[in-house]
Amino acid sequence: MKLTIGCDHGGRRLKDAIVKHLHEKNIEVVDIGTYTDDSVDFPSYAEEVANQVVSGQSELGILCCGTGIGMSIAANKIDGIRAAVVSDTFSARATREHNNSNILCLGERVIGEGLALLIVDTWLEATFAGDRHQRRLNKIIELERK
Ligand code: RB5
Repeated sequence: MKLTIGCDHGGRRLKDAIVKHLHEKNIEVVDIGTYTDDSVDFPSYAEEVANQVVSGQSELGILCCGTGIGMSIAANKIDGIRAAVVSDTFSARATREHNNSNILCLGERVIGEGLALLIVDTWLEATFAGDRHQRRLNKIIELERK
């Protein structure tokens, strides 16, 4: 499984911790930055990660910023992206099982590193339940076409 991760300055420390965590689990990670504390614009990183996911270069993506919210708003502008801001493990599992989310957004200023890593693990281990949830995703695809 290959995953692309990106962040702005507000999520850089959390992004680095997640990259280290995923490397320890032998998961292939493409880290598109940012790599410093210099202020950057989160939509550029959201766009790059989202494009890698919809193009199939990576199966899944993770985006970190101060809240996770700006990243999710930007990433969800790309057709085919289902980006979810998550701050608890119940939602982490549900958003894979029900929404088949393909990008996980996390807020470094909202949750601690320990919880964030547990959310990442929970999200990666969960699988899409299909069935009635697929019907609902099909309706989201119809919305994208309107
Ligand atoms: C950057 O200061 C901050 O606005 C950004 O990281 C994010 O929280 C936006 O949603």
